[in-house]
Amino acid sequence: MKAIKTCLLLAIVTTFIGQVFASQGGVHLDKVKNNLCDKASLQRGASLYVNYCMGCHSLQFVRFNDMAKDIGIVDKKGNVLEKLVNENLNFISDKVTEPLLSAIPKKDAQAWFGVAPPDLSLVARSRGKDWLYTYLRTFYEDPQKPWGVNNMVFPDVGMPHILLSLQGVQVPVYTSIEMFDDEGKPYQKKVIDHLELKTPGTLSKEEYDKAITDLVNFLDYVGEPHKLEREKLGVWVLLFLVVFTLFAYLLKREYWKDVH
Ligand code: HEC
Repeated sequence: MKAIKTCLLLAIVTTFIGQVFASQGGVHLDKVKNNLCDKASLQRGASLYVNYCMGCHSLQFVRFNDMAKDIGIVDKKGNVLEKLVNENLNFISDKVTEPLLSAIPKKDAQAWFGVAPPDLSLVARSRGKDWLYTYLRTFYEDPQKPWGVNNMVFPDVGMPHILLSLQGVQVPVYTSIEMFDDEGKPYQKKVIDHLELKTPGTLSKEEYDKAITDLVNFLDYVGEPHKLEREKLGVWVLLFLVVFTLFAYLLKREYWKDVH
């Protein structure tokens, strides 16, 4: 019950801060509503990650057993359920103490993709979770590109659309906007207005968005495994400061009441 209350308080505080400091960047980013307290969501995200991403990307700072503990794959005493982890998440070794490293050789990856798939341990922090959420949902068909796809927030991306079978094929719908050349003459420029689903995947739009929320939730946790603890502590520190200020004020009044 206490944990739920803290999570609720945390959600209110972070939403408020998010609203105040919302980035005003050029490209529109959809907001992800993930919840680091939702262990079931973290577990679904981890499962998507090892099945669809780990073939190419590593999480070099994460070990299976630490991850399992944090996302709640534990027995009643808090011990990691090693068999469950090895059967469902760890497809690379039989040791739960191993880090989540991709098996792909860097040199081959470089040759195949033009650029080696980067480690994703810190991607939620470097790119931001709204960027990740938008990135993973805005691949669209582009026959000009080597993988036949492009991306709204990562133009000319070197990564294939790995989740195509789940999301389906999206195509761009264009609109024209008026621009002005160097001499101030107006001209029309074709830009993408939005994406439309041409061929559905195995998931509906809502289901796909939810799956990506889980995946981003997992990468958000990976980026800062102690975030939840730190923020929980932060809430108590703030509450302490409020109470302390009140006492300091009352004390001051008590001390000064005979002086005037
Ligand atoms: C077949 C290999 C492959 C798979 C599988 C794959 N990716 Fe990638 N990914 C790449 C490559 C290559 C790049 C680099 C693209 C570039 O720089 O143009 C990349 C780039 C990225 C980036 C951008 C990183 C940055 O900051 O530049 C993110 C985020 C990402 N991948 C997430 C994922 C996720 C999440 C999954 C699983 C759903 C996944 N990838 C599966 C190959 C892959």
